[in-house]
Amino acid sequence: MSTVSIDYTEKIPNNVDLAGDRKLQRALESWQPNFINWWKTMGPAVPTQDVYLRTAVDVGKESWAQFGHVAMEEYRWGVFLAERGDDRRIAFGENRGEPVWQQVPGEYRADLQRLIVIQGDTEPASVEQQRRLGETAPSLYDLRNLFQVNVEEGRHLWAMVYLLHAYFGRNGREEAEALLHRNSGDLDSPRILGAFNEETPDWLSFYMFTYFTDRDGKYQLGTLKESAFDPLSRTCEFMLKEEAHHMFVGTTGIDRIIQRTCELMRSHDTADIAPHGGVPLNVLQKYINFHYSVSLDLFGSEQSTNAANYFTAGLKGRWQEERRRDDHLLTDDGYGMEQVRDGAIITDDVPALLALNLDLRNEYVKDCQSGIKRWNKILERNGFDDRVHLPHVGFNREVGLFSGHHVTPKGDLVGTDVWEARRDDWLPSDGDRAHVQNLMRPVYEPGKIAGWIAPPSNGINGKPFEYEYVHFA
Ligand SMILES: [Fe+2]
Ligand SMILES: [Fe+2]
Repeated sequence: MSTVSIDYTEKIPNNVDLAGDRKLQRALESWQPNFINWWKTMGPAVPTQDVYLRTAVDVGKESWAQFGHVAMEEYRWGVFLAERGDDRRIAFGENRGEPVWQQVPGEYRADLQRLIVIQGDTEPASVEQQRRLGETAPSLYDLRNLFQVNVEEGRHLWAMVYLLHAYFGRNGREEAEALLHRNSGDLDSPRILGAFNEETPDWLSFYMFTYFTDRDGKYQLGTLKESAFDPLSRTCEFMLKEEAHHMFVGTTGIDRIIQRTCELMRSHDTADIAPHGGVPLNVLQKYINFHYSVSLDLFGSEQSTNAANYFTAGLKGRWQEERRRDDHLLTDDGYGMEQVRDGAIITDDVPALLALNLDLRNEYVKDCQSGIKRWNKILERNGFDDRVHLPHVGFNREVGLFSGHHVTPKGDLVGTDVWEARRDDWLPSDGDRAHVQNLMRPVYEPGKIAGWIAPPSNGINGKPFEYEYVHFA
């Protein structure tokens, strides 16, 4: 399959030669108004005139994006697939070494469609979760970043809808419709995965979400990027490029809160900075505990025959499959798995093929550690001995081997009585949430910032922090 450069003269910008397939083009053009309608009703609630946004203009390594003030409703959402060599081969599973698929093999149709629907469902869900945040942004810079994340999650929905329309016939088109009908937190038709039905009620939650939950997205996309179904692989590769900024927003957002927390602790000579308009470190830790644990649930059960089947068939690989030094079949390998047995947490060896969700989760955990290290350096630089940390993987889990058990952040098994008594020490309490909510006041004067967070060290695309990133309607 040869790629063409992005065509912006089309109603739907794309680099998949949509104009060459009238039927598909018409189908997507009839989905487009429904998407715009969804954006208007479920997207950002604050009315804006225009926002300084990046738009993808190329899929190559250099200068792939263009920046400028655009009205969000007129954002050029489109279909962009990464370019790939013509002789890509399947890297794992029983079809290893064979050419990748440009069409969906009949026997994998249902599984591939399911994988695409689950991924696709998360993209608009996060936009819905973040809908009201624009009312309380700590600065115009942050408001702009929120909207950038939102429009790109919208584009990721487009990416998955393109695949459904182009490769899955009528069923696929129906699923594409359903992606706009399910809504985050809706009682009758909620989003598919738990974490995407949680609210994102404040900016601390937003940064935690973009750090921990968008990072889950990175790992899921990483496994789909390995897929033998080449259009899916190329789609995910380009999505990963956009995803990097979402995690940057989370990482640096938490950096800046910790920096400000340090300043407040120093100037008031107390860790209890809540009365001084800051986010106390212990509250921040509870938010880490919450968002990390609900994000771990997104990896599914530690042992999964579905994941094994997807792998063997070549539908979904491991994180950085091609860099792994093994047979890429895993039929004879073992894998260490923590679980609860006889009132203790023990590690058991299980067949590696069954432990692929766990393997992916472990990669994710390693990556999450990098943020913790970085945030602790900020504390250290500021002369504080306090440290933040990731809780034990069994803490606060609703999915997998630890669900139904109470595990403390340190990794001790406890009974329901202890859990109930200590819960508010480990997870955000109503009081913590109310305090954070109370800090949320919009600061929309260019160059100004809310008192609970430090300004960023750089603006966007070389612009200063004081730049007018957003014009309100
Ligand atoms: Fe996304
Ligand atoms: Fe994202």
